[in-house]
Amino acid sequence: MKQLVRNVKIIGTGSYVPEKILTNQELEKMVSTNSNWIEENLGIKERRIASANEATSDLASKAALLAIEDSGLTRNDIDLIIVATATPDRLAPSTAAIVQDKIQAYNAVAFDLSAVCSGFLYGMSVASQFIAAGVYDNVLVIGADTFSRITDWTRRDAVFFGDGAGAAVLSYGNIIEGFLAFRLYTDGRGKWNYTVPAGGSEMPASEETVKKGLHFFQMNGRAVYETGTVVLPKAINQVLADTGLLINDIDYMIPHQPSIKILQKTAEIIGLPFDKVMTNMDKYANTSGGTIPILLDEVNKDGLLKQGSTLLFAAVGSGWTYGAAILKWS
Ligand SMILES: CC(C)(COP(=O)(O)OP(=O)(O)OC[C@H]1O[C@@H](n2cnc3c(N)ncnc32)[C@H](O)[C@@H]1OP(=O)(O)O)[C@@H](O)C(=O)NCCC(=O)NCCS
Repeated sequence: MKQLVRNVKIIGTGSYVPEKILTNQELEKMVSTNSNWIEENLGIKERRIASANEATSDLASKAALLAIEDSGLTRNDIDLIIVATATPDRLAPSTAAIVQDKIQAYNAVAFDLSAVCSGFLYGMSVASQFIAAGVYDNVLVIGADTFSRITDWTRRDAVFFGDGAGAAVLSYGNIIEGFLAFRLYTDGRGKWNYTVPAGGSEMPASEETVKKGLHFFQMNGRAVYETGTVVLPKAINQVLADTGLLINDIDYMIPHQPSIKILQKTAEIIGLPFDKVMTNMDKYANTSGGTIPILLDEVNKDGLLKQGSTLLFAAVGSGWTYGAAILKWS
């Protein structure tokens, strides 16, 4: 019989971003914006855009195979696949089922998780419950999005997002390694601050909705800033309190990548030197579900993570959804 509560750790990471680069300068020619403004306020220089024949599941599958390879497992060892996405290939079936088929991991149960920019953090937490309880041993968590498909490329808010996917394989660890704390939060009162109005059951796609551009995202940027800079510190301080750790104990923060200003303000509030805050929005912009696992994979492959490194994850997204986690790397 399996042990009933087990520690959970990350044993492999992978990521994939599409080849096509769209720079701020190119965007200046498409919408009323300013390259310097984008870089100063958002920290973005360029983003990746999926090609016409690349769906979210394609990005997700490539990241997934790299994460499985990195873990030393095979696709047959994966018990569960969770795909965190806000841009699924189709309304049905789940993108996770499509990924399961594309990577031929037929022993795995697969489902999608919807928490937008907090999706990967939520996904790691859900995976951890299954592993800690002994229900599954090896869980593949993927964060993947193609926001280029829900962007109105004639509006200036086209500057925020890019396409990309990252993945991690979670498995059980020993008593001194792995996740020390998770805190997830939802506040549905913020639900319309980032939304895609049409294409669901409330407002099915029609000629009218397409004409009005209601299948594109709508975002209240100021509300994202004001909320993010309050809820990220709140979640982070809570996981620090849960673990008894101090902010000085954190080696690297691997956050969602909403904008450089949100992260700078958050770091200032929690008292974390900004050189411990990892970023890559300059290259990829905000890839929503993809941000944390892409960044984690880069930090991992750069060799920064050592046995016992203490990592802080934090995310905020549409819903509102938000949260934080602390992990002892091994
Ligand atoms: C985007 C953000 C910097 C805009 O700040 P704001 O003060 O709320 O925005 P406003 O719409 O009032 O615009 C203020 C000025 O910024 C500039 N601006 C805003 N959006 C711009 C864009 N896309 N390109 C160029 N300039 C822009 C304009 O100069 C504008 O002045 P204007 O009124 O003369 O047009 C800020 O809201 C923010 O950082 N939000 C977080 C967004 C985010 O992280 N989104 C990711 C989703 S998780």
